[in-house]
Amino acid sequence: MKTRFAFFVVLIAALVLAACQPGAAGGTIKISVLAPMSGQVATFGDSTAKGVQLAAEEWNAKGGIDGKTIEVVVKDSQCSADPAVNAMNQVVGEGGKFVIGEVCSSASIPVSEIAEANKIIQISPTSTNTTVTLNADGSTKQFVFRACFIDPFQGKVMAKFAAEQGHTTAFIMFDQGNDYVRGLAENFEKAFVEAGGTILGKETYTKNDTDFSAILTKVADSKAEVLYLPDYYNIVNLVGAQAKEKGVTAVMMGGDGWDSADLDVTAAEGGFFSNHYSPEDTRPIVQSWVAAYQKKYDGKTPDALATLGYDAANLLFAAIDQADTSEDTAKIAETLAAIEYEAVSGKITFDAQHNPVKSAVVLAVKDGKVSFSASVAP
Ligand code: PHE
Repeated sequence: MKTRFAFFVVLIAALVLAACQPGAAGGTIKISVLAPMSGQVATFGDSTAKGVQLAAEEWNAKGGIDGKTIEVVVKDSQCSADPAVNAMNQVVGEGGKFVIGEVCSSASIPVSEIAEANKIIQISPTSTNTTVTLNADGSTKQFVFRACFIDPFQGKVMAKFAAEQGHTTAFIMFDQGNDYVRGLAENFEKAFVEAGGTILGKETYTKNDTDFSAILTKVADSKAEVLYLPDYYNIVNLVGAQAKEKGVTAVMMGGDGWDSADLDVTAAEGGFFSNHYSPEDTRPIVQSWVAAYQKKYDGKTPDALATLGYDAANLLFAAIDQADTSEDTAKIAETLAAIEYEAVSGKITFDAQHNPVKSAVVLAVKDGKVSFSASVAP
């Protein structure tokens, strides 16, 4: 009786184990996605997770990586340092080896330190602040990569665009406490001045501010032709609406943080922002990606977050595949550093700081729609 009972217990345990490892004669490879699934910029997380999941599904449909099934686990890290560190500590506790995320630089920076200390491969799909991949002494973090361009380039793209549109004066407003926003503001200022422009004013606010009228009065009084606002869409929606109420005539310009299905196109009407990709790009790789995404997600058009989530995931899967190991992360990091990968957002090869060198696009918010305006090579 006793033996039969023991046999039964072992059998159940085996069944449970098998059920936990979907489809896998060869086991699973777990990928943790750290992204804002709730809070003020939740569209960022939704898109990123959808992009990663689609990439994983495509690989799994082709047999996974070396017979192993890719398993995607999404953790809500809210685009902010503390929840992101908590989520990353969970990854460490679970023995995780691969992270796609975070989306926002202020969250990716502390996460990258934990990744580096624990030999966990981190690819941020979208964090554009330079310090994400760098140690304090300026050396490159061995295990940390990104799938996007960086803000010195992004700031220059919009400064050059503004100058080419004939604008000679700008006013900058930014959230001092956000690494991405602050960095992009600095990079725009530098490049705009280099292009012959003048900055007529700079004002800061904090992330929970909702009333921008005092700053916007200064913007109006300065008569600046451009208002540079490199923040996320939730702030752009507030500032844009208040600027229109006040009759501010400056052309609003910003960066990739504007990219969201929840960008208020009425508030942002007349504005321009730099971004990583345009769904209007006619390259076949872009068009088949847009079609695959629309098919899976009820006709939704992928934004840059979804696209870079997909690119970052494919990059990681290709590196694991090419390195012939899902255990030795040092070898995978070495493979990534030397990879050449044809991604949707452009061909990816890494420079010495683990940054891809890629083109940017400028998108216009016009007649209630976001559309392609220009492409800018590095
Ligand atoms: N680049 C932003 C950051 O570093 C994140 C972002 C990328 C947001 C793309 C929207 C679109 O914080």
